[in-house]
Amino acid sequence: MLQGVDYDPIAQFYALNYAHYTDDLEFYARLAEDYGGPVLELGAGTGRVSRAIARRGIEVVALEPSPAMRRLGVEYTQDLPVRWVSGDMRRLEALRPRQAYPLIIAPFNAFMHLYTLEEQDATLSGIAQSLAQGGRLAFDLYNPAHIGPQGVLQHEGDYPGGISVFIHQTHEAAVQSLTTHYLVDQRSSRGTLKRQTFTLTQRYFTRYELERWLRAFGFHFRLFGGFHREPFSAEAPVMAVLAWLG
Ligand SMILES: C[S@@+](CC[C@H](N)C(=O)[O-])C[C@H]1O[C@@H](n2cnc3c(N)ncnc32)[C@H](O)[C@@H]1O
Repeated sequence: MLQGVDYDPIAQFYALNYAHYTDDLEFYARLAEDYGGPVLELGAGTGRVSRAIARRGIEVVALEPSPAMRRLGVEYTQDLPVRWVSGDMRRLEALRPRQAYPLIIAPFNAFMHLYTLEEQDATLSGIAQSLAQGGRLAFDLYNPAHIGPQGVLQHEGDYPGGISVFIHQTHEAAVQSLTTHYLVDQRSSRGTLKRQTFTLTQRYFTRYELERWLRAFGFHFRLFGGFHREPFSAEAPVMAVLAWLG
């Protein structure tokens, strides 16, 4: 069993904090309509994107290693054509049944959980072997140009039940790692405050590192700066990629 990040402790919080994030849904769902299913989603989380695709009647294989994330994903995609699979994107050769996918997606920074060059290469090699002829790989990543000042507490959002979320980040440029600390405060009706802290470390890609990685495995690609296929620029909120084998 490969070591990796564990989303189990943050599953409930993840569902709460990101359920309202919809910027990317049309980008991925439209690609699914264009290229067809089954779509393989790597790091499917709680099914945010899988659900949007499956609602259009397209079958999705949702690969997710965290049992707690999967449980929520199963609940949120009930009655939709989503098959949840426990697995690891670094070992796609172990995925059963073996089949070729017309579209493989890794939305919302899933590749930021590939911490080493070996993990990145194993993943992209597995993807290259799992794509159907003429198929597409689509994913989006954080644009590191937006790394903010270290340790500054930012208000992330307020939710029903007296819940407020704050984040602060620490950055280690030498290893391209970004650690996000989530402070989740719940205020009771009696005015007491319960605080939970969750920490997530991710490894970010730089733009040309990303391009070199794709080229090394024979991919052609388009790099966008947003989900409406805007050109990539320093200010772009994300690096969104559509890639194919030539
Ligand atoms: C930032 S979340 C994105 C979830 C989902 N794609 C979305 O858009 O909401 C990253 C997900 O990748 C999963 N993940 C982390 N390492 C993984 C690996 N090696 N293989 C597959 N999934 C992984 C995590 O468990 C987590 O659910």
